[in-house]
Amino acid sequence: MIERRKIYNFLNQQKSLFGNELFSLSTNQVNPDLLSHVQNSLDGLNQYSKSISLCQECSLGAKRNNFVFGVGDSNAELMLIGEAPRKEEDMEGEPFVGRAGKLLNKILAAINKNRLEGVYLANILKCRPPDNRDPLSLEVDKCEPYLLKQIEMIKPKLIMALGKVSAKILLKKEIPIDKMRSTVYDYYGTPLRVTYHPDTLLRNPDFKKFAWEDFQWARDYLAR
Ligand code: URA
Repeated sequence: MIERRKIYNFLNQQKSLFGNELFSLSTNQVNPDLLSHVQNSLDGLNQYSKSISLCQECSLGAKRNNFVFGVGDSNAELMLIGEAPRKEEDMEGEPFVGRAGKLLNKILAAINKNRLEGVYLANILKCRPPDNRDPLSLEVDKCEPYLLKQIEMIKPKLIMALGKVSAKILLKKEIPIDKMRSTVYDYYGTPLRVTYHPDTLLRNPDFKKFAWEDFQWARDYLAR
């Protein structure tokens, strides 16, 4: 499963770098430095994922079906961070594959992105908390360093925290989400904006217009 995703991801990155032409070129016509950069960053993330995937640092490790490391472009400009995997994510080993994830896919498509090109999706916790409860501070203490390492490897230009739980944990402060949305925060050196969690948008479709503003802002910020 991971191997298939790795290959798919790699081909997508190649396509975004070289267009469809890539597939008619022989490898010695492709810039070898670029190729090895893309391959190295993918390999680096995959190796890191493997090295931590048996984690038992907190009690969630014993109950998980899958360690949900993250998915996307290893050179992504935009990184989206949720709080923790839910049931579907735990079953599939990939973040945001349930209903919230489908909505996220549509939002990304509206700014001409998708989860394999230019975007990386991850959660603060890599294992599912029981009954989807909020992450506990001990779990965050153990898991946040994994997220920091992912960010260090991917080097996104912008992080978007999805929802108030994710924002509160990452920024270590609790402010109503509507007040946080207009501020660019700093998360260990990377600019971070807060937007609504797709679950909230499913429950309150009226908020979609605000999320749309946030993602349009992100698109324009990344185009600068
Ligand atoms: N909600 C999250 O915060 N993360 C997921 O991966 C899925 C739903």
